[in-house]
Amino acid sequence: MVKAKVWKYERRFDGFPKEGDLKLVEEELPPIKDGEYLAEAVYLSVDPYMRAYAPKVPLGATYIGQQVARIIESKNPDFPVGKYVVGSFGWRSHTVSKGGPDPAATLPTTVLPDFKGLPESLGVGTLGMPGNTAYFGLLEITHPKAGETLVVSGAAGAVGSHVGQIGKIKGLKVIGIAGSTGSKMVKAKVWKYERRFDGFPKEGDLKLVEEELPPIKDGEYLAEAVYLSVDPYMRAYAPKVPLGATYIGQQVARIIESKNPDFPVGKYVVGSFGWRSHTVSKGGPDPAATLPTTVLPDFKGLPESLGVGTLGMPGNTAYFGLLEITHPKAGETLVVSGAAGAVGSHVGQIGKIKGLKVIGIAGSDKKLKWLKDELGFDEVINYKTEDVAKVLPKLAPKGVDIYFDNVGGEISDIVFDNMNDFGRISVCGGISGYNGEKAKGNVIQLNIVFKQLSIQGFLVGRWTDRWLEGIQQNLQWVLDGKIKYKETRTKGFENMFKAFTDMLKGGNIGKAIVEV
Ligand SMILES: NC(=O)c1ccc[n+]([C@@H]2O[C@H](COP(=O)([O-])OP(=O)(O)OC[C@H]3O[C@@H](n4cnc5c(N)ncnc54)[C@H](OP(=O)(O)O)[C@@H]3O)[C@@H](O)[C@H]2O)c1
Repeated sequence: MVKAKVWKYERRFDGFPKEGDLKLVEEELPPIKDGEYLAEAVYLSVDPYMRAYAPKVPLGATYIGQQVARIIESKNPDFPVGKYVVGSFGWRSHTVSKGGPDPAATLPTTVLPDFKGLPESLGVGTLGMPGNTAYFGLLEITHPKAGETLVVSGAAGAVGSHVGQIGKIKGLKVIGIAGSTGSKMVKAKVWKYERRFDGFPKEGDLKLVEEELPPIKDGEYLAEAVYLSVDPYMRAYAPKVPLGATYIGQQVARIIESKNPDFPVGKYVVGSFGWRSHTVSKGGPDPAATLPTTVLPDFKGLPESLGVGTLGMPGNTAYFGLLEITHPKAGETLVVSGAAGAVGSHVGQIGKIKGLKVIGIAGSDKKLKWLKDELGFDEVINYKTEDVAKVLPKLAPKGVDIYFDNVGGEISDIVFDNMNDFGRISVCGGISGYNGEKAKGNVIQLNIVFKQLSIQGFLVGRWTDRWLEGIQQNLQWVLDGKIKYKETRTKGFENMFKAFTDMLKGGNIGKAIVEV
């Protein structure tokens, strides 16, 4: 059952709208019927008409407005899953709609046309109702002629700024009247490292604060976080983070103000900005971060969130960490631990592309089912309910040639016991020990010596100079349907800490991210 958040008209506006005039409630939505679809709001429009039309809105109704929404379920072939619609659905997070013109709305509900890579949000702005208001309202009503003088009031708003620019295209002298006293101070929400983690991270170890950002200077830009990455290394690197600092992490952010031509407004960047909602950056490589801050490459219509997942650091970790460290050959047997996570699920699929037999080890049956049924892993083991030491030799009767190790600890000891002579081991991580757990390990040297194993650890930053190669190859594999991905999204910047601890406990399938 999907729950929609909805703003209802609770008390008639009397003068300027006041807190409590609208009320946020939750509403259960019925399952969709044939001909219907379920759309999830992504961008909601905020328009002056919402105040002007208020006397016509019945009390208790969903408040009026347009939105750009993503179709997440559909029984209507004209409105397929994954497409975006612009609809007069009102102030609500989820909507069941029939599609087609909405009889109650004056504007049509349409699938978003191809915006040629421009952001979908323009569907309620420049390429939607306000843009058409400017276009038709100026040209059809006033029939301007080059050389004339045009005055636009409300000149810096959605309609006014567009009208003035059409005026310039038509050769007019344009005078704009607007009302601002200077640039607005932006407040960033920031998670600070307040108290050193002791074992598993606890509420209060990180603290959410607000920080005022200075106006941007020449060469700088202001970026607003859209997707924040949640990664195991955030726990592993904690001893290196100074207390009081912004907590470490990568994010996909949208540039909302810029005085740097290489980072223009509207573009997305992937940056090691930390756990913060807004960042003033200079662009270019961040000397404090090992990974480059870059404008997001063209993802050919795939979601920008992949910039911190399959088409970002974890994807490159899988690509370089498997291929450059273990040099796999078709027919060999690969074991991946942490197999249903961002890196592990990707490694196993590259293994399949390279013709390997792939065995994944992960911590829930739901994860195993995904690995086997959807990603094509050959065999899977639930390390929480099965005896890996008994099961692995049966699933790998010819032994293990390559081990991609994400977890360390007991699981890795057992895999080592099953390695073939001259086996190769890519040590990517050791999450079983990140919270200070005592290792119960064997003496691995015996296996290493007698089987003449090659073991190599790596940090993905080693391949910074080949970063785009990894992203382009992974992108091609995704477009070809050879690499599939899943994201576990947590909504709300204020839920970062919860998303982080959920991931450490294995709550994620695929990449864990926070959607602001
Ligand atoms: N070397 C590098 O440059 C580099 C870069 C990126 C990531 N990494 C490492 O790669 C590993 C995977 O990272 P990721 O981003 O893909 O994270 P992830 O696998 O998406 O998420 C972490 C997963 O670890 C598993 N886990 C937690 N505690 C465990 C334990 N005690 N034993 C076994 N599994 C446990 C959980 O899945 P289950 O349900 O299966 O337990 C959890 O979902 C991590 O060790 C990370 O530090 C290294």
